[in-house]
Amino acid sequence: MKYYVSISTFLSLALVITASTVLAGQGPETIDLKATYKVEGKKSAVIFSHHAHQENLECSKCHKSSAGGGPLVVEIVKLTTTKNDFHKKFCWPCHVEMKVPKGKSCKTCHPK
Ligand code: HEC
Ligand code: HEC
Ligand code: HEC
Repeated sequence: MKYYVSISTFLSLALVITASTVLAGQGPETIDLKATYKVEGKKSAVIFSHHAHQENLECSKCHKSSAGGGPLVVEIVKLTTTKNDFHKKFCWPCHVEMKVPKGKSCKTCHPK
């Protein structure tokens, strides 16, 4: 009896581990958003930590599809000045909502 209990505990643990490994780490690990969106300007490129963001967030927080990838939940059109759509519609609102430490500080995202 004991033997069966530990086997099934082991199996369900293995399942949980496999499921979370499959969910995290999809798509590129990091994404150079300046290059991807051909942003012009003097601010240093934002290298978005894609996999790190997947650890605590569902794909559907950012992608229209719940499976992730493809279009984002917001349309990114304006790419100049500090009123660009990444700041105003995407990165900043979520950082404020989720109380990310220094989530709106320039150096959090732009190294320079
Ligand atoms: C915090 C926001 C965020 C989360 C959460 C997120 N992504 Fe992304 N993802 C992005 C951004 C930003 C890009 C790059 C911009 C673009 O492709 O338009 C991207 C790009 C991608 C790409 C490459 C471009 C493409 O569409 O083929 C894939 C694949 C992808 N994500 C899959 C996923 C999957 C799968 C998940 C969930 C496990 C996920 N993402 C979770 C923000 C996110
Ligand atoms: C849907 C919510 C959400 C969106 C959208 C989002 N973030 Fe975040 N971000 C978080 C959370 C939550 C954390 C803190 C916890 C963590 O590190 O996962 C974080 C942390 C960070 C950090 C510090 C830690 C690290 O991973 O390097 C950076 C830098 C960052 N985000 C950049 C961005 C950029 C750039 C964008 C827009 C392209 C963005 N984030 C969009 C939720 C979000
Ligand atoms: C949460 C992440 C995040 C934070 C914090 C952030 N930015 Fe950005 N910013 C971006 C992203 C993403 C882009 C578009 C991609 C790129 O330019 O690499 C961008 C683009 C810009 C642009 C337009 C492009 C350019 O080079 O001129 C300016 C200007 C800018 N940011 C200034 C700032 C300033 C000033 C601050 C501090 C008040 C700041 N950013 C804080 C993510 C962030």
